Amino acid sequence: MSETPTAEAGNTSGTGFDQQRGLRTGAPGLVILPVVEGRGGAEIRAPEARLAEAVGLAQAIALDVVGEEIVRVRKASASHLFGKGQIERVAAMVAAHEAELVVIDAAVSPIQQRNLERDLKAKVIDRTGLILEIFGERASTREGTLQVELAHLQYQASRLVRSWTHLERQRGGFGFMGGPGESQIEMDRRLIKDRIVRLKAELEDVRRTRGLHRRQRQKAPWPVIALVGYTNAGKSTLFNRLTGAEVRAEDLLFATLDPTMRAIRLPGHDKVVLSDTVGFVSNLPTQLVAAFRATLEEVTEADLIVHVRDVSHPDSAAQAADVAEVLNALGMGAERPMLTVMNKIDALEPEARAALLARTGDDAVAVSALTGEGVEALQEQMAVMLRAGTRVHAIRLGQGDGRLMAWLHAHGEVMGREDDADGMVLWVRLSDADHARFVMTRG
Ligand code: GTP
Repeated sequence: MSETPTAEAGNTSGTGFDQQRGLRTGAPGLVILPVVEGRGGAEIRAPEARLAEAVGLAQAIALDVVGEEIVRVRKASASHLFGKGQIERVAAMVAAHEAELVVIDAAVSPIQQRNLERDLKAKVIDRTGLILEIFGERASTREGTLQVELAHLQYQASRLVRSWTHLERQRGGFGFMGGPGESQIEMDRRLIKDRIVRLKAELEDVRRTRGLHRRQRQKAPWPVIALVGYTNAGKSTLFNRLTGAEVRAEDLLFATLDPTMRAIRLPGHDKVVLSDTVGFVSNLPTQLVAAFRATLEEVTEADLIVHVRDVSHPDSAAQAADVAEVLNALGMGAERPMLTVMNKIDALEPEARAALLARTGDDAVAVSALTGEGVEALQEQMAVMLRAGTRVHAIRLGQGDGRLMAWLHAHGEVMGREDDADGMVLWVRLSDADHARFVMTRG
């Protein structure tokens, strides 16, 4: 490994990210879930389901998961996390499978990470590192990319170890593996610090411009519906079904990071903007909260939030609670209209399905985004909820008010019309927000 700290070598940003080249696909890796015994009460998820989610996340960075294991730890060792015998067993798994990377689905301290890398003879990343890799891969807007890069740098600065992708891609640069000298670490520290300062300035710029764009969009008077939900709940699949759009839906977690917006038609609404958002996860690393929030700004402006749930998942309830918690943290608590979509009903056993259907009402609709079952009822219910708080207004229009008439037809439900010598009176059902917009538009 080169000792030359060429920060810009081999990637686009000098930080370890290389979004152009992508990950080396198919690298063999292990996924290990440590379960600290005696802490069971605080963790409602079954270890098996947590391990399955971690494997899903690892696959999302194109890792070939060749082994997975739950390791029960009686007392986490500050230096190694695991006990001696456990490390030997994992090391044997690494050797047997020639694994290059070990994902540990927990918070691993810098010291534990370094010791484990030495003993296992493989690169080790923890849950934060893993989610950072995914966000890095999937961020597509300028702001998303910058924010993830910033989060990644802050994470690296705190531990001075390189990300896996970084290790694979970049020889030299921020090289912390293989015993870099003190001077190199110092140099790396300085490079990281400089880069963080520059990134923050760039982010400020991007935010200012985006603020302008948002204000412009706010003037476009369409109601906005935001889809939210736990990762893999089926948001993109539902988005596609509702829009007929080709948004990437994969059996990969985090197939979407930056919100995707499309216009759709709903009964009684000519144009509604539907926005797909990044999937939520539990234990979101704190360094990533800001990056994650930036991807959810559309949600804070939505007229209706549609919460998509995977009801076929064993931890469906815990996932829903996680999503609710994030929405509360964003200040999107009870006052915002919210509709729950019970998705993947096609994957339920008949009894579970019948029980679920009996429980759905005005605030929950059961669907299968995959087969399309229930989607029409969902469209109806979304329209009803957008109409909630609407009133019928008598609006006088002159002869030359064609533009205003078109606006009213697009945004409201025109219930009746009477023509007279001066023009006409329209009876239009409008939401209070749309009525206020109309008054503004009319000037
Ligand atoms: P993130 O991007 O990770 O947030 O995921 P997402 O919520 O956008 O999920 P996505 O639409 O990518 O779907 C995840 C997986 O669930 C894919 O394999 C889909 O085919 C599958 N899926 C989505 N909807 C349904 C459904 O109604 N039934 C079944 N059986 N599978 C579904």
